[in-house]
Amino acid sequence: MDNIIIMTHPLIKHKISLLRDKNTGTNEFRKLVEEIAMLEGYEALADLPTEDVEIDTPIETCITPMIQGRKLAIVPILRAGLGMVPGVLSLCPTAKVGHIGMYRDETTHEPVPYYCKLPSPIEERTIIVLDPMLATGGSACDAIDQIKKKGGKNIKFMCIIAAPEGLKKLHESHPDVQIIIGNLDRELNSTAYICPGLGDAGDRIFGTK
Ligand code: PRP
Ligand code: URA
Repeated sequence: MDNIIIMTHPLIKHKISLLRDKNTGTNEFRKLVEEIAMLEGYEALADLPTEDVEIDTPIETCITPMIQGRKLAIVPILRAGLGMVPGVLSLCPTAKVGHIGMYRDETTHEPVPYYCKLPSPIEERTIIVLDPMLATGGSACDAIDQIKKKGGKNIKFMCIIAAPEGLKKLHESHPDVQIIIGNLDRELNSTAYICPGLGDAGDRIFGTK
């Protein structure tokens, strides 16, 4: 499918395996989420716009490209997306950060939105939406709907683990959105958790139950 990148780098696969381990504690889990986000971010930012600037080297003056840092916005979906923010910011520290708050209803598995604050002007920015888990796809689709309603155009979605069901829904609902995935897992179970997955990403990042 067009516009979908599934990472193949062994470092990412290795770190995702460590994340899956139920014996991996909160501290290590957070570090791994950050590192994976940084490695995936390198790929997600491959087409980031640059502008030519004049730099004086010790030898001569040259015209050389630099990232237009003010044109990037990263938007974590609360809560679990927060864990990916430092990894992407380490690559692009001048990026603006928006937040979208939503949680899944435990019975219907539908997203329940409760917060949205985006940097302006949002329509001029490359926007990377962050959430480690793409399960049914409901949360990602709703978040991207909200961003588009506020004028966002150039949107990417980056997750660590996706289920085929969520990937299909997101890609069909928003074919213009580039999707970057650490690993495509097998399926959802009857409670809409990803199998084999890693459990509840928010609880594992923040040490809650
Ligand atoms: C998790 C995850 C995604 C969502 C994915 O959040 O971080 O946002 O579920 O599921 P979906 O693709 O079926 O919508 P959760 O609802 O557990 O909220 P939390 O991060 O606040 O714990
Ligand atoms: N949210 C999670 O945190 N994990 C899943 O497997 C599905 C949704």
